Amino acid sequence: MEDLLIKLKNDLDKANSLLDLEKIRVSYLGKKSFIAQQMKLLSSLENDKKAELGKTLNIAKKNMLLLIEDKTAQIDAVQSYEPIDISRPGKALYESTKVGHMHPNNIVLKETYRVFTELGFAIVDSPEIETDWYNFEALNMPEVHPAREMQDTFYIKGTDQKLLPRTHTSGMQVRFMENNKPPFKIIVPGKVFRNENEDATHAWVFNQIEGLVVGEGVSVTDMKGTLLQIVKKQLGPETEIRFRASYFPYTEPSVEVDAKFNGKWLELGGAGMIHPNVLVNGGIDPEKYSGFAFGWGAERLAVIKYGINDLRQLWRPKFEYLEQF
Ligand code: DAH
Repeated sequence: MEDLLIKLKNDLDKANSLLDLEKIRVSYLGKKSFIAQQMKLLSSLENDKKAELGKTLNIAKKNMLLLIEDKTAQIDAVQSYEPIDISRPGKALYESTKVGHMHPNNIVLKETYRVFTELGFAIVDSPEIETDWYNFEALNMPEVHPAREMQDTFYIKGTDQKLLPRTHTSGMQVRFMENNKPPFKIIVPGKVFRNENEDATHAWVFNQIEGLVVGEGVSVTDMKGTLLQIVKKQLGPETEIRFRASYFPYTEPSVEVDAKFNGKWLELGGAGMIHPNVLVNGGIDPEKYSGFAFGWGAERLAVIKYGINDLRQLWRPKFEYLEQF
């Protein structure tokens, strides 16, 4: 029986049509086949021999049928296969004018990531719900500090800890310092939330890009050079920047950064040399290390780049408007 199965396998290997298979089935299992002849012999045998041969024959028959079925399935699959013509023209899902595209905020953010990573900055994420400590206190703004007034804040009620939707991405400064040794250069992009009265230049939610650079001997010159290089890469090589004196409790000195684009000065956000208290809160020795930080509105870049006159438009789901960019 073993030999018969091997022979069947060889014959099946050679078969390549359903007709071939039918011929094979008839020759191995049809009326005139060896198996059929053996079956006929059964009746003339004594009972115990009959049972033994009967069993062997049935198993052999079953195995042969299985082999033939397998091969039938294979040949079926090959015959029903329709090759794909890759040279045929594609079908557009929508008319070309209706194809989706990136939101202008995301276009600007993506470009920002490229520019900063090219300059060796790492991109770091931070929690959208922040503790009062990281968002304010660790940044030199204790509870009674008037600078808290600079950021109208939403608070989350009913929690033991003082939690709030972050008012700026600066909360990541001390979080990051606690876990990393200088030197480092990072940006922290993300949405921030403020209890603002909205107008054309203020929205209650917007994207901010925090920057943090710490190392030995980092100076104001490094800050200005780095920021200028970034702005030129993002808005074009002719773009100029200027610093205006400002105040943030977590930087000393503090500045506002403006960019001159198409002949107009526009505000990008704040920056400054990191206050020694902030370095200490992050476990970094201010005698050895110094650094600068900045926080820009990502929408401000979009506004400057695309000449948008009301940044609230960027947060409205109006396709006709957004599709222009
Ligand atoms: N956190 C400030 C804001 O939201 C922006 C800012 C200013 C960030 C100065 C900084 C900085 O890191 O050094 O208005």
